Amino acid sequence: MNDQHRGRLTRDGIRIHEAGDFAGMHRAGQVAARILDEIAAHVQPGVTTGELDRIIEAKVAEAGAKSATIGYKGYQHASCISLNHVVCHGIPGDKKLKDGDILNIDVTVIVDGWFGDTSRMYAAGTLPRKAERLIEVTHDALMLGIEAVKPGNTFGDIGHAIQSFVEAHRMSVVRDFCGHGLGRVFHAPPNVLHYGRPGTGPVLEEGMFFTIEPMVNIGRPETKVLADDWTAVTRDKSLSAQFEHSVGVTATGCEIFTLSPAGRFHPTYG
Ligand code: MF3
Ligand code: CO
Ligand code: CO
Repeated sequence: MNDQHRGRLTRDGIRIHEAGDFAGMHRAGQVAARILDEIAAHVQPGVTTGELDRIIEAKVAEAGAKSATIGYKGYQHASCISLNHVVCHGIPGDKKLKDGDILNIDVTVIVDGWFGDTSRMYAAGTLPRKAERLIEVTHDALMLGIEAVKPGNTFGDIGHAIQSFVEAHRMSVVRDFCGHGLGRVFHAPPNVLHYGRPGTGPVLEEGMFFTIEPMVNIGRPETKVLADDWTAVTRDKSLSAQFEHSVGVTATGCEIFTLSPAGRFHPTYG
């Protein structure tokens, strides 16, 4: 057997990793999460998203890790930075942050061949009340999705937990992008939908590794991709937020590989 890809595949093509593989995912996840902790101090009005990306690129190298996004399908940056009505895959550039802007920073690193993929929300200066509510709901939706991760539950249970919570708050779940399996690869089966019906979809098994990364809009769920072929925005220009964790299914629930070492995952924690 090829040592790069141990374990077996389910009939849905989802890799079942071995017990020893959790440690590698933990190390990769923690490198990515620490970078998200450290970038927080740099998110200030006046800084450009390109400057933030260069700091992230330096931190990835400093950690002895490799960026998973530089060179991925032609992408050239160490992060995606998605401002205000940008849903995901925002390209870092010359735009300066303004007071009251909200942004998602998404970092994926490779450590000893394992992928750690995580994103969080940040605010430049004062966080507007409406944006704070959106961020709160998106964060809580991700954590509710994660609570549904245990052997015997299904991927539909995860999507349902997220969707029902978000819609109860009169916000909408983006359908056009989803989470994904990962491990020694960046994107693998299954597509992890952030909406769905209980009991549907593949059954969760110990050893599955995947991301959950709900995107939530204040307005309608529709998105469009700009002419740069990456930047996804809300069609109605409403504000959008996202949080992402990489998790592994254990015998009784899951391990979150990308928990903040500083306990700072949520932007209002200080
Ligand atoms: N990190 C993103 C995800 O959560 C993927 C970014 S791909 C890039 O899956 F090329 F845009 F960086
Ligand atoms: Co991801
Ligand atoms: Co990501």
